Amino acid sequence: MIAIGCDHGGFALKEEIIKHLENRGLDCKDFGCYSEESCDYPIYARLVGQAVANGECEQGILICGTGLGISMAANKMEGIRAAVCTDCFCAEATRQHNDANILCLGGRVVGPGLAIKIVDTFLDTPFSGDERHLRRINLIEQ
Ligand code: RB5
Repeated sequence: MIAIGCDHGGFALKEEIIKHLENRGLDCKDFGCYSEESCDYPIYARLVGQAVANGECEQGILICGTGLGISMAANKMEGIRAAVCTDCFCAEATRQHNDANILCLGGRVVGPGLAIKIVDTFLDTPFSGDERHLRRINLIEQ
């Protein structure tokens, strides 16, 4: 199960991504927001972050205008490694090296075509499991 959430700046892109996940046959849980009315991104970062941290969802996707504010809020939560990606190279690397569990996107930064490729790269790339990467991830948690 993939948790997904956004603020008003990410709402349109969230709808595109949900359609894409459904087309791929992937289950997702939509934590809002549900319109383009102005709202506060930390609320949705927390809802998605909690779902990932408590194991209800394996991974999360968070979208605001830039991806930045919502990633800062998500990264305050224990066990969350949220990465803003604007390209597929970073999406692949953050899974392989950082075992990122939340992908953050900017609805005002990337178009839907690129965003969907970034989502697919993130979801389809496993963590390398290399000792040096595990050591570094553990250092972040300390
Ligand atoms: C909302 O206008 C905007 O500040 C928000 O979506 C996000 O980009 C914050 O980092």
